[in-house]
Amino acid sequence: MQQELLFKVLVIGDLGVGKTSIIKRYVHQIFSQHYRATIGVDFALKVLQWDNDTVIRLQLWDIAGALMVFDVTRASTFDAVLKWKDDLDSKVTLNHGKPVPTVLLANKSDQLTSQQPKLDSFCRENGFVGWFETSAKENTNIEEAASCLVEHILNNE
Ligand code: GTP
Ligand code: MG
Repeated sequence: MQQELLFKVLVIGDLGVGKTSIIKRYVHQIFSQHYRATIGVDFALKVLQWDNDTVIRLQLWDIAGALMVFDVTRASTFDAVLKWKDDLDSKVTLNHGKPVPTVLLANKSDQLTSQQPKLDSFCRENGFVGWFETSAKENTNIEEAASCLVEHILNNE
C-alpha cells in the first residue's frame, strides 16, 4: 500500500529574490519576467511520486522545512540570509526541538557574471542542510533543491 505524506515547506528570503518564481517553476513549470510583489502568502501544492511506495504532498507555505532564497546579483539579499535564519530558528522548531531543515538557494544564477563562491562551509557553520545555485528562469536545480529538503525532512521523521 502507498503511504501519503504531507509536508509544509516555507519559502523565505528578501523581496524580489525569486521565491514566487521558484514555486511557480517547480509546481506549474512556468516562468515570467513580470514582477508582482507577493502580498501575504502564496499557496501552492506539489504532488511527488517519491518512490514506488510513497506519494508526498508538499504544501508550500507553512513549515516542516524551509527553502531560503537569495539573489546572486544582489549582495544585500545574501547578507540578509543570516537574519532570516535567526528569525526562523527563533520562531520555529520541530517537535523534537530541532531547528527546521533549511536549504539555501542562490537564485538567478543565469545572471551570474563571475563564479558564485562555494557555500559549503557557510552552510555547515550556519546550520543549512545544503545549498544550490538555482534559476527559476532556466529551470536549474529547483527540483534538486526541493528533493534535498524532502530527504532531510524524511530523515527527521
Ligand atoms: P516578493 O514576493 O516581492 O518577496 O518577491 P519574490 O521573491 O516572490 O520574487 P519573484 O519571484 O516575484 O521574482 C522577482 C523578479 O525576479 C521577477 O521579475 C522575476 O521574473 C525575476 N526572477 C526570479 N527568478 C529568476 C531567475 O532565476 N533568473 C532571472 N533572470 N530572473 C528571475
Ligand atoms: Mg513573491
